[in-house]
Amino acid sequence: MLLTPEQEQIGRDNFHEVVGVSRRDFMKTAAAAGTGLGALYFGYSKLEGKPVRTAFIGTGDEGNVLINEHPTDYMEIVAIADLRPANQKRTFTGSHPVARRGLNAVLGRAKADDVAKNVFTNHRDLLAKKDELGLEAVVIAVPLNQHAPIAIECLEAGLHVICEKLMAQNVTDCKRMIRAAEERDLMLAVGHQRHYSVLYDNAAHLTNEMELLGDIKFIRAQWHRNNSFPGSDAWQKWNSSAKEDRDLLTKMEQDGSLKEYGYETAKKLIDWRLYNSTGGGLMAELGSHQMDAASIFLGKKHPLAVQGYGGKNFFGMEGVGPESAWKDDRDIDDQIFVTFEFPGKTHEKNERDVAVVTYSSMNTNRWEPYGEAVFGSRGTLWMKTEKEALLYKESSKDSPGGVEQRIWMVNSKGSGPVLDSYETSAPSAAASGAQAGMGEKISRGYREEMEHFCYCVRTGKNELRCNGHVAMADAIMALTGNLAMKHKKRIEFKPEWFDASSDACPEEDEQVKTA
Ligand SMILES: NC(=O)c1ccc[n+]([C@@H]2O[C@H](COP(=O)([O-])OP(=O)(O)OC[C@H]3O[C@@H](n4cnc5c(N)ncnc54)[C@H](O)[C@@H]3O)[C@@H](O)[C@H]2O)c1
Repeated sequence: MLLTPEQEQIGRDNFHEVVGVSRRDFMKTAAAAGTGLGALYFGYSKLEGKPVRTAFIGTGDEGNVLINEHPTDYMEIVAIADLRPANQKRTFTGSHPVARRGLNAVLGRAKADDVAKNVFTNHRDLLAKKDELGLEAVVIAVPLNQHAPIAIECLEAGLHVICEKLMAQNVTDCKRMIRAAEERDLMLAVGHQRHYSVLYDNAAHLTNEMELLGDIKFIRAQWHRNNSFPGSDAWQKWNSSAKEDRDLLTKMEQDGSLKEYGYETAKKLIDWRLYNSTGGGLMAELGSHQMDAASIFLGKKHPLAVQGYGGKNFFGMEGVGPESAWKDDRDIDDQIFVTFEFPGKTHEKNERDVAVVTYSSMNTNRWEPYGEAVFGSRGTLWMKTEKEALLYKESSKDSPGGVEQRIWMVNSKGSGPVLDSYETSAPSAAASGAQAGMGEKISRGYREEMEHFCYCVRTGKNELRCNGHVAMADAIMALTGNLAMKHKKRIEFKPEWFDASSDACPEEDEQVKTA
């Protein structure tokens, strides 16, 4: 979707206009509340009692983003664990002036020095000291293949867990994680942060509660990157990683100790996203977030079926792309195109009422980098890079629509609020009210996710928005998408896969076994 800056601005104003009017009172309260919007939006409050004593397992790129965002009123970081010495160090010194400032800057030197007394080289050494540390919870941000093993070890040790997405490498492991948490009455949250995004919450209010987009029959989600230029792939980290990390991990590979942590080679730990034994490919790393978003806009229903094409069509082939690409030894596909069928609103009565979601991700072109476009019979919503929402009205014979039209909401006779359009050059006061009510800086939801987790730990009320069951549904979509591409088959989703008390799983299903 290529729009002029003016057309994009109209889309932004339209979104704010409609949110401002449809959530008028809420937005006024939000604007007055200023900071701490998450509590207002997601139904929690200030923490009663002490911040939850938490350790971080995995302080790589994402672990450091979460450390940067961690809410100190709710969470006290008491220890960290990481296999890589340079990643341990950058937890304190930082590695990005805004996104990963490091604990010295986030907490101040004195408090960071206290955490520095409790740095462990792996999760097991950390768990051995959990009582001494008075540990209550862990945040796990390690490669995908280690999510389930480490989360289960932590739950068995009696700790509450936030685990990064994708929940696990297979659905059997997702179910084991849920059971391990529920048997012990512990919180298990998974890091699909859109569940804690104020922007997505407002957008979902328009599509779901207000039904302003009319019938949604199609969602197009994509994450397109161009990693074809030599050295441009952020997932190839080996060459840019610290020599001390490579040396230590290579030594562990040679003496066999690296295997104890689930990695065959040092390279497969550092470049874990590129290999099937450690990662889950584009669908798990990128697509799972966006299928999560698509299913939010479709009322969090489970999909009916999936089919798709995935191929390693660029890397590892002499003669294609630059020489650096020929030598690339990744396992994962470099382009995927997947089609999901979801039940429409009346699907139970009308089998033909189906909404389609397409997902694409590729490595060789970044036109329209990433986002989700929601196409309804009355309007189009475009979520751009998790940071912006643009809204446009469909044209009808009575009122124009499209990318040049400002819209407003009217109450139509008998059928509730609908979109209308008007010719003006400026947004209304409602639009600026909505903008203020979303906060100055749009949060991607990391902070809110950690605040709510700690709140649930303290109150004992498990009201997590991305709990094990919700996250397992996201994992089922991504992992079944992978199976459909692998077996070149349309696969139908089964309700029992989504039931944690059943052992049924897509990877064990006869549709896959007979493929
Ligand atoms: N929510 C999001 O938007 C988002 C974004 C990026 C990454 N992630 C997720 O975060 C996780 C980590 O990704 P990343 O980019 O930070 O990877 P990374 O490779 O940069 O960091 C992973 C770290 O885990 C450490 N580690 C591995 N096994 C360990 C063990 N047993 N004990 C202690 N440390 C161990 C490694 O040494 C490494 O430093 C992944 O699951 C990824 O999918 C989520």
